[in-house]
Amino acid sequence: AGNTAQITISTDGGKNIIHKEIYGQFAEHLGSCIYGGLWVGEDSPIPNIKGYRKDVFDALKQLQVPVLRWPGGCFADEYHWMDGIGPREQRPKMQNNNWGGTIEDNSFGTHEFLNLCEMLGCEPYISGNVGSGTVEELAKWVEYMTSDGDTPMANLRRKNGRDKAWRVKYLGVGNESWGCGGNMRPEYYSDLYRRYSVYCRNYDGNKLYKIASGASDYDYNWTRVLMDNIGHRMDGVSLHYYTVTGWSGSKGSATKFDNNDYYWTIGKCLEIEDVIERHAQIMDKKDPKKQIGLLVDEWGTWWDEEPGTVKGHLYQQNSMRDAFVAALTLNVFHRHTDRVRMANIAQVVNVLQSMILTDTKGTGHMVLTPTYHVFEMYKGFMGATSLPLTLTCDSMDVRGDSHAKDGRRIPLVSASAAKQADGSLIISLANVSLDENQDVEIALGNNAPKAVSGRILSCKSIADYNDFDHPNVVAPQEFKGAKLKKGTIKMQIPAKSIVVINVK
Ligand code: AHR
Repeated sequence: AGNTAQITISTDGGKNIIHKEIYGQFAEHLGSCIYGGLWVGEDSPIPNIKGYRKDVFDALKQLQVPVLRWPGGCFADEYHWMDGIGPREQRPKMQNNNWGGTIEDNSFGTHEFLNLCEMLGCEPYISGNVGSGTVEELAKWVEYMTSDGDTPMANLRRKNGRDKAWRVKYLGVGNESWGCGGNMRPEYYSDLYRRYSVYCRNYDGNKLYKIASGASDYDYNWTRVLMDNIGHRMDGVSLHYYTVTGWSGSKGSATKFDNNDYYWTIGKCLEIEDVIERHAQIMDKKDPKKQIGLLVDEWGTWWDEEPGTVKGHLYQQNSMRDAFVAALTLNVFHRHTDRVRMANIAQVVNVLQSMILTDTKGTGHMVLTPTYHVFEMYKGFMGATSLPLTLTCDSMDVRGDSHAKDGRRIPLVSASAAKQADGSLIISLANVSLDENQDVEIALGNNAPKAVSGRILSCKSIADYNDFDHPNVVAPQEFKGAKLKKGTIKMQIPAKSIVVINVK
C-alpha cells in the first residue's frame, strides 16, 4: 500500500456556488437518443406518458436534470423547426444527414421538447441553426417559443395547441461552426454571431442567455478571436472536450480495454482542467470580471460503436471506466465555477456516454449506466458552495502524448467538497488505482462533525457494466467505512471505487 492521502478542506472558505447547470444533459436527434430513447409516441406498446418513455422519464426526474440541450449537436445546423410543429401526421419527414442518413418523421419537435422540459422541471437549452438556416428562421423560432403578444408566431403556436409562451433562457447561436456547423473561420463566425443574435429578441419578460459556438478542446485561437470580435455581445461561449483517443480510425472498445488504456483515459479526462484554464486565461484578458460564461456543452467519452448497432448512431456501452471519467470531470468543474457555468454531458440516452440505455429493438428494456449512478450520487453538489481543499496523495505516470504541462502524471485520489444549504458537507472521493486501496484522512479544520454517512460505487473489474440481463452489476451501495474522530474523517477507499460522503 502507498501513502495515506491527506485532504484538508477549508470548511469556511467557500464563496463560489456550483452552478446546478454543470449537471446538464444533452439530447440530440442522433441514433436512438430521441426516437426510442426519450420518445416512443403515444401509440407505443412501451409504457409512456404522452409519448415520453415512462421508465426513462422517471429515471431522469430522479436525477433532477437542471438543463437539457436540444436538438443538436451537428443536427441543429440542419434542423428546420417549422417541420416539427403542427399535427404530427402532417409533419414532413427528413433525412438525418449527420447521423447515419436515418429518416425521421419529425414527431418530436418544439412542443414535445419544451413540454418535456416543463415536466422534468429543467431549463431548455435551444441550439439554433446558423449553418444552413436563415436569420429570419431563428428569429421566428424565438418568437414562436417565447412571445406572449398578438404576434404572428405566438398565434401560430396558439393554433398548435399551446397558449402561453414557454420560458427559454439558453440559446446557442450555432454549434461547432468551425466544423459540421458550417466549416467557418472564427472571424466569419463572429460576424454571423453578431448578426443572428441581434434578431433573437427578449419577448415579454423572457431573457435570453446567448451562447456563441465555441472551440473544440485545444483550439485556443477560436476563443481568442471570438473574445476579440464578439466580446460582451455573448453571455457565454461553449467548449467541447471529448475523452477520445482521436478522430480517425478506431476509438477503442467501450468494454474491452487493458490497464494501459484505462489509465490513458484517466489522464486524457483530467486534461480538461488544463484546457479549461487556458481558455479561461484568454477570456480573462477581455473579460477580467468574468461576466462571460464558459459552457462545456459537450463532454464525455467517445468509443467505437457497439458491434451490431447501426453505423453512425454512436451507441456505446458504459463501464466503470466511464463512471470515473464522469466523477473526475465533475470534480474539475467544481473547481472552476468562476467560469464554468454549465456543462452538458453527451448524451442523455443511447448515445456516447449516456445516463440510460434502452433496447432499441422495442423489447421495453432499459438500464441505468454507471455514469447515471455518479450523477445521482453527486446530486447534492448542485447549487452547493464549492469548498477549497488541498490534497496530497500518490501519483503515477500514464501518458506521454499529453498537451498539458505535468499532464502525464495522475493523482491516484481525486476529491471535491461542498457545503449544502442545510450546512452539511458533501465530499466526493475517487480512487482511480486498479489494484491499491487508498487510506484517506480528511481534516475539517475547526469543524467537529457529528455524523457521517456515505455511498460507494465499486466493481470487480474496471470493465464491468450493466446490461438488460444484468442491470445491477454496477450500482451504489451503502458505505460504512468513513469514521469520525474529532475534526477528522478516516477511511479506506477500495481500488477502483468512487465514494460520496455526507457529513453533518
Ligand atoms: O455529440 C455528438 C456530436 O459531437 C455532436 O453532434 C457534435 O456537436 C460533436 O461533434
